[in-house]
Amino acid sequence: MRDPRRVAILISGRGSNMRALVEKASGYEVALIASNRPNAAGLEWARQRGLQTWALESKGVGKEEFDREMNGALERHEVGTLALAGFMRILSPWFVEEWRGRILNIHPSLLPKYRGLDTHARAIRAGDRISGCSVHVVSEELDAGEVLGQAEVAIEPGDTPQILEQRVLAAEHQLYPRILSEFVNR
Ligand code: GRF
Repeated sequence: MRDPRRVAILISGRGSNMRALVEKASGYEVALIASNRPNAAGLEWARQRGLQTWALESKGVGKEEFDREMNGALERHEVGTLALAGFMRILSPWFVEEWRGRILNIHPSLLPKYRGLDTHARAIRAGDRISGCSVHVVSEELDAGEVLGQAEVAIEPGDTPQILEQRVLAAEHQLYPRILSEFVNR
């Protein structure tokens, strides 16, 4: 059994949650930053900080084929827990089984509300007064695994999806490192 406190963060883009997880790392160690986009902005930031990185372009690669390559990298770095942070790719059933109960994700809504994309626009359109973010365990079904922690954020009159996104992101950056640390030390 690998040490659950050796964490890999999986990203596809800007990586603001990844930065928060790195900067607030306490009770866990960031062993690897992995990406399915070799040009992901977050990778450059990670390299500059001397973190280990791995990337493989996933376009045109079969789902499980990609996941098996990534799994090899995770094993080489003796990773015990995965934190998805804006990783825009559905994991294969094989991979989810391999890592069952050891993958977390952050989602920008109060699950079970608004699974999937465009959460902020959907919350505003619905006239919700409260939105927020959730950290959950990853299962086969999209955004549906056990919720480990949530933070609420007010929706203000006149909010656009972009404005709300920024407010929720600030909450994500506080929530995710705390819940990850609790999870790997439970
Ligand atoms: C965040 O909104 C997160 O909740 C969602 O994807 C976005 C990633 O943003 N899963 P960043 O790359 O962490 O800045």
